[in-house]
Amino acid sequence: MTHHSRNFLPLGDFKPADQWQTHVNSIFYGIQGPGIHDHFQTYVSRDHRLAHALAEDFFAVARAQGPASSPLIVQEWGVGNGNLAACFLARLRELDGEGKVYPRTRYVLCDYSREILDGTRVNALLQEHAGRFSAALMDAEGTDCFKPRSVCKILSNEIWDDLAAKALLKHDGLLLEEYLQPFLEPAAVDMDFEEFRTLFLNRDLDALKKLPPFLHAIHWERSYQRVDIGDWPYAGTIRSLMDRAEEDIPIPVNIGAFAALERALRLLAGENQGYCGFDYGMFSMRELNEAGRPYFNLYGGQYTFMVNFELLAEVGKAAGFKTVEKDYQRRYVGQRLGENLLSVVEIVRTHPRIAEMPPWDRDALMLGTLHALNGTYKSPYKRILEYPVAPGTPKKQRKEIARLAGTLNPRGVPDTVAYVTASETFAVLKQLQRLGYRERDLRRTFEDPEQTIAFVYMKFQ
Ligand SMILES: C[S@@+](CC[C@H](N)C(=O)[O-])C[C@H]1O[C@@H](n2cnc3c(N)ncnc32)[C@H](O)[C@@H]1O
Repeated sequence: MTHHSRNFLPLGDFKPADQWQTHVNSIFYGIQGPGIHDHFQTYVSRDHRLAHALAEDFFAVARAQGPASSPLIVQEWGVGNGNLAACFLARLRELDGEGKVYPRTRYVLCDYSREILDGTRVNALLQEHAGRFSAALMDAEGTDCFKPRSVCKILSNEIWDDLAAKALLKHDGLLLEEYLQPFLEPAAVDMDFEEFRTLFLNRDLDALKKLPPFLHAIHWERSYQRVDIGDWPYAGTIRSLMDRAEEDIPIPVNIGAFAALERALRLLAGENQGYCGFDYGMFSMRELNEAGRPYFNLYGGQYTFMVNFELLAEVGKAAGFKTVEKDYQRRYVGQRLGENLLSVVEIVRTHPRIAEMPPWDRDALMLGTLHALNGTYKSPYKRILEYPVAPGTPKKQRKEIARLAGTLNPRGVPDTVAYVTASETFAVLKQLQRLGYRERDLRRTFEDPEQTIAFVYMKFQ
């Protein structure tokens, strides 16, 4: 075991995976605030297309429902830097020339991290909608602090993967549950290890915030233990899915997302627009049963579980939702724009030489691709895409990368994961070919079926 050779010491005991996962995640968000986006980007943290698609759907239904004076409460759960809220409200205001829907809308940014909610205050785009939005400290898995049947629409992006999840696997017909134990090298913390362990176990955010970053250095040991799932929520639904699961493949059971669905059901008003959530994971039984596929992720110390969308859909129905929609996120957004789309990283991955490129050449390719796409792409928002030079980049390439990054158009593609359409891409095909892309690969990828781990849209109503 790796931890023996590297002087790792345990930070606690072996516990079911969900217990440690939620423990480290609350520390991660509690000490970082909006700095989380230094560790990962999401499809809404800088891009606007997903937010606009949601606003367009919301507007179409609200307008069709006709005049009313009651407020339309939209809640977003797990808000990050507030960009989804800002772009949703901006698009809604733009669509609502007659002033029938936007003035009635109250957008509530809900998050369990005070640090995160405070961070949204510096979002200038969001501040343009002062009076239309408010912030609420709440745990998506917790008990209710809002009035039942008061909310018109609930949104979330990449929160289900953060919420409590267990992992089950079937072995010789028996069910085994994953247990985790965190380890850290004492040298990774600049203080007495016992004292640190106490701060970590007590989630002392104020003290942990002052320490040099340590979450990324945690080493996780895993083991599987026999379990009786009789007292788990939706045990019957889980059992029936496990009957269809292949042996020895870890299957996430996102119990925190189940609790969030129940909460949404209680909060949604009689006439409502449902709960729309986006996340990444396994779309159906076919992907769940693919041997060797990943089922968790670590980003800068944050511990996420991929979402078992098959099970989530079944739990949604069992919980009492009348309709459950499931589609690929790319298709959901693409349908609103009337064409296929890809994120820029997916375009870059089609480059025939990407696999053999050193990291700095990949950075230069990404930047060259952004410059090419900016020949046609026009963002409704002005923002500078920061692209720092990675440590270890040789001097000559540093200069070139800094030059390319410094000359990006602020009205261009806003992010390396931003969605671009097929027509935006093929309009600059010549420039892309000059960078080494092949038309055939690009066309195929725009049409491609999704990968085993995919970004997925779900709506519960
Ligand atoms: C991966 S970030 C995504 C942020 C944003 N939705 C985005 O896509 O950029 C997850 C967000 O959910 C929040 N969060 C995590 N667990 C939560 C919980 N149990 N209740 C409420 N918010 C939670 C975090 O503080 C963070 O803002």
